[in-house]
Amino acid sequence: MAFGIVGVILFLYWAVILDTRPATQSCDTARNGYTCSPSISRYWGQYSPYFSVESVISASVPAQCQITFVQILSRHGARDPTSSKTKKYNTTINSIHSSVSSYGKGYEFIKDYEYTLGADQLTTFGQQEMVNSGSKFYDRYQALTRHLTPFVRSSGQARVVESAQNWTRGFHDARKDDMPSNPDSTYPYPIVVISEHTGSNNTLDHGLCTSFEVGFDSTIANSAQVTWATIFTPPITARLNKNLPGANLTLIETITMMDLCPFNTVASSIGSVSEFCDLFTPDEWESYDYYQSLGKYYGYSWGNPLGSTQGVGFTNELIARLTDTPVNDHTSTNHTLDSSPTTFPLTKNATLYADFSHDNDMMGIFSALGLYNETRPLLNTTRESTSMTDGFSASWLVPFAARAYFEKMTCVAKTEELVRVIVNDRVIPLITCGADKLGRCGLSAFVESLSFARAGGDWEQCFV
Ligand SMILES: *[C@@H]1O[C@H](CO)[C@@H](O)[C@H](O)[C@H]1NC(C)=O
Ligand SMILES: *[C@@H]1O[C@H](CO)[C@@H](O)[C@H](O)[C@H]1NC(C)=O
Ligand SMILES: *[C@@H]1O[C@H](CO)[C@@H](O)[C@H](O)[C@H]1NC(C)=O
Ligand SMILES: *[C@@H]1O[C@H](CO)[C@@H](O)[C@H](O)[C@H]1NC(C)=O
Ligand SMILES: *[C@@H]1O[C@H](CO)[C@@H](O)[C@H](O)[C@H]1NC(C)=O
Ligand SMILES: *[C@@H]1O[C@H](CO)[C@@H](O)[C@H](O)[C@H]1NC(C)=O
Ligand SMILES: *[C@@H]1O[C@H](CO)[C@@H](O)[C@H](O)[C@H]1NC(C)=O
Ligand SMILES: *[C@@H]1O[C@H](CO)[C@@H](O)[C@H](O)[C@H]1NC(C)=O
Repeated sequence: MAFGIVGVILFLYWAVILDTRPATQSCDTARNGYTCSPSISRYWGQYSPYFSVESVISASVPAQCQITFVQILSRHGARDPTSSKTKKYNTTINSIHSSVSSYGKGYEFIKDYEYTLGADQLTTFGQQEMVNSGSKFYDRYQALTRHLTPFVRSSGQARVVESAQNWTRGFHDARKDDMPSNPDSTYPYPIVVISEHTGSNNTLDHGLCTSFEVGFDSTIANSAQVTWATIFTPPITARLNKNLPGANLTLIETITMMDLCPFNTVASSIGSVSEFCDLFTPDEWESYDYYQSLGKYYGYSWGNPLGSTQGVGFTNELIARLTDTPVNDHTSTNHTLDSSPTTFPLTKNATLYADFSHDNDMMGIFSALGLYNETRPLLNTTRESTSMTDGFSASWLVPFAARAYFEKMTCVAKTEELVRVIVNDRVIPLITCGADKLGRCGLSAFVESLSFARAGGDWEQCFV
């Protein structure tokens, strides 16, 4: 009898769980980010949806310390493929449809797959990622966010501005929930939008450094990626062609077939993992992630002679904000914007800053800051794990809706303010200024370490 009751209760409990967790529920949350199929979705390079990266050092506020300043630097949320890529993807699908008449087991869905991805814009899922990021930021820094509204800037491309708007929405709604009777600020929040047009001085979007713009992608990054792709793709290409007889896919089209996994996933409003993802193994996704990391390292970081220089302008703005002194920069900053308290207020009246940008620009900024300075040049012929690259990988650094927090804190028994940097929830120890056990440096040591940026990086090389 007792057993019977327990059985019935267990059954009811099980039924309730099933009922409240329908298969259509999103596994993307503000706190942890994207948690569907982590053994593959964390290996989609910069096309991974943001997930909370494990941190060796605790990312919570250290005991006896108080956060006094936060700058968030964020990538836009998940988007459709860029317009040039979306045309190529569609071409590949069209050519499969016209050349293949029998689809292998597991490949049948491709027969009826209709290419409907757009170009360049945030997806609905990507908008929600940014709302979630704003609400997470509010909660994390509640002692400050209850009373201060962040000063917001955005690079000018539509998906970036929209990301900034969605982030402020998440922030504002979290504040309303927290303090219903004290709506401290009016909404929408002002956003300083910095143009991406040719010739624009914009620290959130590269474009001014001529030698970098003409040479960066087609040469160093591209050849490193092709070298690696030539090694890891042949067995994948052979398998695809065996199951799609007649398709005769090339190396690049093999990468296209892999790209279709993350892009179809984020095109679903709740981020349901696409069927394209099942065509590849977790090991193959690791190789794909490494392929994307090579692109970032040799395109926008120390693997490119002018990569880190692209991050100098923002680094000098960050120094200004951290030290409450005017911006001193002769690279990509706009002096008109940065010398006005309306468009570049200093900490006297603002201690929360939120800037919205792109993956490539964030890579340059992280490099100029020396965050991954111990990372050895990435090998182009062998896959290295993130433990071998000091955590440097495209998916850990710049996934969709990536965010870095630059914090200042005051602590009992410390005379000077301390600086700490957190990238996607992982504390990045400030090795270049002698990080303490919690990864932090004193403000003056941190600024001192940024000699590369303070000297303008290699900006003069942009024009030779
Ligand atoms: C894909 O290509 C087909 C054939 O050219 C075209 O009809 C369709 O509009 C394209 N779809 C998209 C989403 O671009
Ligand atoms: C994101 O921002 C855009 C533009 O302001 C808006 O149309 C959209 O509804 C927002 N999405 C969410 C989820 O708030
Ligand atoms: C600098 O910013 C001002 C104000 O937004 C703008 O009018 C001007 O075109 C910008 N100059 C450059 C070189 O980007
Ligand atoms: C691959 O790496 C080696 C060693 O760093 C380098 O000499 C070579 O130029 C690279 N090749 C390509 C195609 O990137
Ligand atoms: C497959 O494509 C390659 C070029 O990418 C071509 O050389 C080869 O002849 C093609 N094979 C078939 C069976 O069509
Ligand atoms: C824009 O940047 C260039 C190159 O550093 C600089 O010469 C120019 O003065 C800047 N313009 C403004 C408005 O800041
Ligand atoms: C900061 O103060 C200046 C000068 O008083 C003012 O113009 C600006 O709007 C203020 N900015 C913020 C974010 O409060
Ligand atoms: C990082 O390494 C580069 C190249 O060795 C160096 O120029 C730069 O100053 C270093 N950055 C920091 C913050 O130490």
